[in-house]
Amino acid sequence: MTTHQAHCLILPYPVQGHINPMLQFSKRLQSKRIKINIALTKSFLKNMKELPTSMSIEAISDGYDDGGRDQAGSFLAYVTRFKEIGSDTLSQLIQKLANSGCPVNCIVYDPFLPWAVEVAKNFGLVSVAFFTQNCAVDNIYYHVHKGVIKLPPTQNDEEILIPGFSSPIEASDVPTFVISPEAERILEMLVNQFSNLDKVDWVLINSFYELEKEVIDWMSKIYPIKTIGPTIPSMYLDKRLHDDKEYGLSIFKPMTNECLNWLNHQPISSVVYVSFGSLAKLEAEQMEELACGLRNSNKNFLWVVRSTEEPKLPKNFIEELKLTSGNNKGLVVSWCPQLQVLEHESIGCFLTHCGWNSTLEAISLGVPMVAMPQWTDQPTNAKFVKDVWEIGVRAKQDEKGIVRREIIEECIKLVMEEEKGKLIRENAKKWLEMLWMKEEVQIKILKNLFPSWLNVRVIKN
Ligand code: UDX
Repeated sequence: MTTHQAHCLILPYPVQGHINPMLQFSKRLQSKRIKINIALTKSFLKNMKELPTSMSIEAISDGYDDGGRDQAGSFLAYVTRFKEIGSDTLSQLIQKLANSGCPVNCIVYDPFLPWAVEVAKNFGLVSVAFFTQNCAVDNIYYHVHKGVIKLPPTQNDEEILIPGFSSPIEASDVPTFVISPEAERILEMLVNQFSNLDKVDWVLINSFYELEKEVIDWMSKIYPIKTIGPTIPSMYLDKRLHDDKEYGLSIFKPMTNECLNWLNHQPISSVVYVSFGSLAKLEAEQMEELACGLRNSNKNFLWVVRSTEEPKLPKNFIEELKLTSGNNKGLVVSWCPQLQVLEHESIGCFLTHCGWNSTLEAISLGVPMVAMPQWTDQPTNAKFVKDVWEIGVRAKQDEKGIVRREIIEECIKLVMEEEKGKLIRENAKKWLEMLWMKEEVQIKILKNLFPSWLNVRVIKN
């Protein structure tokens, strides 16, 4: 008789914003003595600066081992080949693990890769879809899938009533792939997330119930949904997990000492932290407006500009910053340890693209936001930040799609110092207090993570 530990194979879509929450989730499973293996593409692994020490990682192939998505040419080519080669290499991996006496019980997969369900079924495994975006966004894609949302809306201010939402939202608040005709192929993939969702055992959402009760209640009537709570290391919350320092897998190297030393010298709540995540590309004109808006705000700022974006900064901007003293000092870095930054007492607001991870991280650490959404799910996240949770403002674009310097300056001042922004600052702290104070929130989350299907610590043959 052989005994096996319950064993989950985790299959993220290979981009930073999708891997980070799945890695956090994996850590929680691992802390409950569930064996974890993370399947990542060879091309992603090749570019990673550091591998996490606490996780077991296995390579699969997306068919583009040298260059990944960039090598594919088009998005459609990438996902098509990934499906074909990925299914085979994932199956081989499952077989290899079984042959080595460590069979997999369950696949937790990113629904961007819906073919994983077929692989799980072929091997008789439990399948769990893990949506890395929030329930509101998933609900919108679901309704595009069902043909309830008619496309494309004719105007940006056209109101759309979506089942599960308490009030209509404007077309400019739905994910960009829904309203932009050029993104048809990407939308097809997003809609495909639901193509076989009725076959899965569980649907996990990277959110927490209190944030989006209505829409979660609505979606729960269709799918077996569980929310997994804030996906940040427990060292930032209740410290329940020991030695929980590693955050995500990154292809970027954080400039940790430089950032933290600099922040340590800034007054409390004085700094604007600025970041647009791992993918967004800003127009050079937008970079210039942002640089001027930050300067004119007369606040200190820490701005993450990835090295590929740096050439778009105004000429001599970084050199001039080094000469600045007093208020309005700035530091530009290519990547930072974002959670350590958001947690730092010197941070007064987060000027963000509203990627879902960044939004959740700011909420979890009580930082008010200036939202400057760029694409994908970000406009919807920004809508919730401003109108539903009231923990930030949204910087309005002009007709060219650029947020001008005056608007940026105005938004920063409102969030950081003006009486009008007091409610926003207080609301941001409320979420922080709720997550900290209510230990039962974490307990509830952990219970959500370990429903009956995982109570199989030991399986006997
Ligand atoms: C993308 C999409 O933009 C996002 O909207 C979607 O929900 C997930 O995929 P990304 O653009 O990278 O993600 O943004 P975000 O979701 O915010 O994720 C960025 C991650 O990188 C965050 O976890 C953040 O903490 C981390 N980060 C960012 C750093 O660790 N250091 C940095 O300097 C910047």
